[in-house]
Amino acid sequence: MQPVPRISPKYFYDQLGSKLFEAITRLPEYYPTRTEKALLEQQAADIKRLVGEVNTVIEPGAGNVEKARMLCQILQPKYFVGVDISAEVLKDGIDRLRHAQPTLDARAVIADLTNRLDLPEDIPMARRLVFYPGSSIGNYDPPQALEWLHRARSWVDATGGLLIGVDLPKEVAVLEAAYDDAAGTTARFNRNILAHVNTVIGSDFDPSQWSHRAFFNPVASRIEMHLQAEEGQRVRWPGGGREFAHGERIHTENSYKYALPVFMTMLREAGFAQVNTWTDERGWYALLYAQP
Ligand code: AVI
Repeated sequence: MQPVPRISPKYFYDQLGSKLFEAITRLPEYYPTRTEKALLEQQAADIKRLVGEVNTVIEPGAGNVEKARMLCQILQPKYFVGVDISAEVLKDGIDRLRHAQPTLDARAVIADLTNRLDLPEDIPMARRLVFYPGSSIGNYDPPQALEWLHRARSWVDATGGLLIGVDLPKEVAVLEAAYDDAAGTTARFNRNILAHVNTVIGSDFDPSQWSHRAFFNPVASRIEMHLQAEEGQRVRWPGGGREFAHGERIHTENSYKYALPVFMTMLREAGFAQVNTWTDERGWYALLYAQP
């Protein structure tokens, strides 16, 4: 039996994929981005009070640095370090941040977060805040998510912390609509992974031959995204190829929805002993501030 075909979700984010993801964040069905933004706005004073004085905000996977702008306005740190693999988007975002907050020393670190993170040497260890919004942690399987939290803990000392966004379990219809919108934007985003893979490995996937599937898996508490073959087909790539049967699926993404107590246990396991949380009035989304 052949293994279940998988493509890593990191291949979603070529130029078109990043644009499609931005469009997703504005969809009426996709609540996480606007819920998190509203939480940050509404709880700004409380966040400021609890987090206190911050020297450096570090944002892994900062992308266009849209969300950090608001946080930096709230916390007024001395330094901002945005880390991302996509140099162009990050550098543009850092430029906009510098323009909006001229007193902030904002830096771009181009790095793949699956490797070691080397921050500029003059960034002090004390009073760092790691900012990880957007529920991006949900795209890792739980063991990798725990590993990520351990790594985040290693970037701060006892005076630092982690501010992280987490999408919570909710009504299945709400979850499934967020990942299978009426306009078909998430479907385009999902199919675009094949076009990107074609560019990267020289395969000949025909994206139009694959349909978007997104559903909630209640056992694993995650949304799963798949691409399903509309017809039997052979896909070739340099040095090989594979037969796909009609209806066969390629698994492209998981998006875990953590109950708060489960996620708080993971934070403690990763070395964050003290955790404060904020949730929206519907209880759909949480921001957590974790300290060692
Ligand atoms: C980036 N990440 C948090 C998104 C999510 O909700 O899991 C990716 C996404 N996939 C489909 N829609 C959005």
